[in-house]
Amino acid sequence: SPIGVPDLQQCEPAMDVSPTNQTMMLTLNCCLPIPAHKPRVFSFHKYKSKPRVRQAAHTVSDAYIAKYTRAYELMKALPDDDPRSFHTQAKIHCAFCNFAYRQAGNTSVPLQVHFSWLFLPWHRWYLYWHERILQSLLGDPTFTLVFWNWDDQRDGGNVMPAMFVPNGTALYDRNRNQNNLPPALVKLSPTTTGNDSVEIVNQNLNDMYRDVVTATTAELFMGDAYRTGTDITNSTVITAPLEGLIEGGVHNGIHYWTGDPNLTLMQDMGTFTTASRDPIFYAHHSNVDRLWDKWKYDLPGGPRADHNDSDFLDAEFYFYDEKARLVKVTVRDALDNSKLGISYPSVAADELWVNYDP
Ligand code: C2O
Repeated sequence: SPIGVPDLQQCEPAMDVSPTNQTMMLTLNCCLPIPAHKPRVFSFHKYKSKPRVRQAAHTVSDAYIAKYTRAYELMKALPDDDPRSFHTQAKIHCAFCNFAYRQAGNTSVPLQVHFSWLFLPWHRWYLYWHERILQSLLGDPTFTLVFWNWDDQRDGGNVMPAMFVPNGTALYDRNRNQNNLPPALVKLSPTTTGNDSVEIVNQNLNDMYRDVVTATTAELFMGDAYRTGTDITNSTVITAPLEGLIEGGVHNGIHYWTGDPNLTLMQDMGTFTTASRDPIFYAHHSNVDRLWDKWKYDLPGGPRADHNDSDFLDAEFYFYDEKARLVKVTVRDALDNSKLGISYPSVAADELWVNYDP
């Protein structure tokens, strides 16, 4: 049966272990605030969204960066236990990625939203609510997240976006790889060594081609079935049999490239418990979200199909809305970005990896 929403009262400390050294671990309290009223059920009717186009981070104006910074200042200024606070927003990721909760229909199994077909829809919803909260804090329903266009190997996307770099702003995070600040080129494969820019770019194009173009089925691209009872407690970035190519490949690559290699678990971006403490996380995932649409609608050979198994479509998650209320959503309602009001501009440099000849 499909994954249901967990009992938020049953929360355990979240555990994060280094994939290469099991003695290195972090244990964190990622238990989420439990609002007094009962959860709302999402509907497109209750939650209208203005159509908006998320822009590439390296293309937005100074005025937009100022607004974006302001949005995160406001979110970071909320008390930690406010469901809309940056603190809680970051904890949501930790809670559902590091086993703070158990599966609704089988409490012997911990809930995990990575390493399977839940990955793309869960993260789409995560950004959707995060963006709505930022909109409401700004009082601007047209505000959108940016996307970090790291797959762009030609027009300026493949560096850490400048808006996240200056020390001391609300978009800054100190726990990043200091060797990868601009102008360092993004490496989508953690194994790419060397600093020859032609080699880096070629490897990046090759990785994009492999993870998106060659992933012709939903199983390959999105990941495989995760239902009530599926236990992937022991899946790691090294052993993740249900994981899709986009997640295990270029998506993880950016996490490792951004996190600080001098910290035990490559915090912040390099590990689940802390990744979304870095505001760049949401821009990173916007690009993953854009690439899902690209994969689905815009590759040679015509549209590609998401999973249509009812255990996929009917899976449910909890998030908080902009009024700090708990809201229950389904995977089904995440599959069409246009219904959520979200779109992306077409990116000319996509053609480099779409037409890459390995
Ligand atoms: Cu929930 Cu990029 O990971």
